[in-house]
Amino acid sequence: MTGRLPACVIDVGTGYTKLGFAANKEPQFIIPSAIAIKESAKVGDQSARRVTKGVEDLDFYIGDEAFDATGYSVKSLLREREVGIPPEQSLETAKAIKERYSYICPDIAKEFAKYDAEPAKWMRHYEGINAITKQPFGVDVGYERFLGPEIFFHPEFSNPDFTTPLSEIVDTVIQNCPIDVRRPLYNNIVLSGGSTMFRDFGRRLQRDIKRSVDARLRISENLSEGRIKPKPIDVSVISHHMQRYAVWFGGSMLASTPEFYQVCHTKAAYEEYGPGICRHNPVFGTMT
Ligand SMILES: Nc1ncnc2c1ncn2[C@@H]1O[C@H](COP(=O)(O)OP(=O)(O)OP(=O)(O)O)[C@@H](O)[C@H]1O
Ligand SMILES: [Mg+2]
Repeated sequence: MTGRLPACVIDVGTGYTKLGFAANKEPQFIIPSAIAIKESAKVGDQSARRVTKGVEDLDFYIGDEAFDATGYSVKSLLREREVGIPPEQSLETAKAIKERYSYICPDIAKEFAKYDAEPAKWMRHYEGINAITKQPFGVDVGYERFLGPEIFFHPEFSNPDFTTPLSEIVDTVIQNCPIDVRRPLYNNIVLSGGSTMFRDFGRRLQRDIKRSVDARLRISENLSEGRIKPKPIDVSVISHHMQRYAVWFGGSMLASTPEFYQVCHTKAAYEEYGPGICRHNPVFGTMT
């Protein structure tokens, strides 16, 4: 291992690709993700040759298209308001506003009332530059600040086909685990990824999970007509300083162990077998 450069860790996500060296705590480079298109799109001379290398059934899109699917909520709210955002800049504008000004509130009705009582205190103003005309444009940001990320807790606001809040999904997952690990799991819910970075995300998730858990305990107590007093369950959602790049950090830790070199695929093997080689890994097994 001595003399060898640390492994390069790359985490390709829907929004960003993070690159850096193993053992570092944070990525050194963060760039927008590339778009992966299916070979049938016939891009480039190499397309036919690459199809034969064991990845022909993959059909995935990263980057803007996938980002569009996750980042749409603030964007569509802005569109409804018909402000002067250049259409081709609507996505980046919505993203900047989302990352800069959005937060999770405890109670939407109260939040609306707060804004209505003191708009100057709660509204924000975003200034952008039109990439073509170089003229500045401005967007007042109001209710969107808390309505955008509310999608995690009230998905039906955006699409009536989806009604299950995130807190309920986490609760169901833990309920599906063996009974003896449920309490420790409720007490150790760890956040990861850029979209958990909204202010008070963890606090709201914790409160909502706690409500579901408490309601279930109350039902048991009522069913037993008060004879059983269940011990309260502690719910703890953990925000931490690795949260934004937790996935990358996991890769960094893994790649900094000496064992990593026994299980990774080498460039020479990749060049011999093609990308299909990544379908199997001694650590993770076969990926389908
Ligand atoms: N401070 C912030 N507040 C809210 N959202 C944020 C913040 N910072 C980044 N994001 C959002 O997080 C998302 C990117 O997070 P992350 O890098 O974890 O995702 P990804 O790895 O690209 O995607 P995935 O892991 O789903 O493939 C983007 O939608 C970005 O706008
Ligand atoms: Mg990711």
